[in-house]
Amino acid sequence: MTVTTDSSNNNNNAAPLPASTAALLDLARLRRSIYTLSPTSPIPDAQLRQLVEHAVTHMPSGFNTQSSRVVLLLHDEHKKLWRGVVRGIFEGMVERGEVPREVWEGQTRGKLESFERGYGTILFFEDPTHIAPMSEKFPIYKDGFPQWAQHTNAIHQYFLWLALHSVGLGANLQHYNPLIDEAVIKSWSLPTHWKLTAQMVFGTPAAEAGEKTFKPLEERVKVFGAQ
Ligand SMILES: Cc1cc2nc3c(=O)[nH]c(=O)nc-3n(C[C@H](O)[C@H](O)[C@H](O)COP(=O)(O)O)c2cc1C
Repeated sequence: MTVTTDSSNNNNNAAPLPASTAALLDLARLRRSIYTLSPTSPIPDAQLRQLVEHAVTHMPSGFNTQSSRVVLLLHDEHKKLWRGVVRGIFEGMVERGEVPREVWEGQTRGKLESFERGYGTILFFEDPTHIAPMSEKFPIYKDGFPQWAQHTNAIHQYFLWLALHSVGLGANLQHYNPLIDEAVIKSWSLPTHWKLTAQMVFGTPAAEAGEKTFKPLEERVKVFGAQ
């Protein structure tokens, strides 16, 4: 069953939460995927850089491997990603018949153009060179390292999504990897072993988020021993 209301605030008998916690919950509740973006930012680029550096410094990582890598593309570099790199790859695939022309013209091209209208893109990567030494050092956990690296990367993504929202920027999360990995690495002369995990497009919101439905909390949360 799917319900449309958010029931996560329904604990009416509980004492009010500390203000900082209430602010955090509001940030989490109000962060949404925003696809209609304009190419402006309420904060300067130096502060965007600060958000990224804060994420990379302070996010937790499995065994403190600090394996996540982040690249911030702004202005012309952001446009170069969506108009030059990604669009170029799709146009090649359409030419070769690998993507139907009607899919390109009816869907993909418009999507890429909407990303291009944003202010910037955050590229998330993992550096896999951290996995092999950890697997050797802790063989008992070796199967866990690749997925913990993905979890670590997702923590960076979510933190930055919230941080962008907190300053008034909207964002959406894209996954054109692995299609674009090689071209991205080449275009910005990045280490060739970095693995692209996600692309977060952001800008000033130019339209509301779409409607969101919520599955019942009772099916998704269980609490034992509460007093
Ligand atoms: C792990 C993950 C992968 C996602 N991948 C994509 C994606 O490739 N393209 C996209 O448009 N949205 C993607 N999204 C956004 C989700 O569709 C979106 O978060 C979800 O529908 C809930 O909407 P909200 O972000 O507005 O709360 C992804 C979200 C997550 C958490």
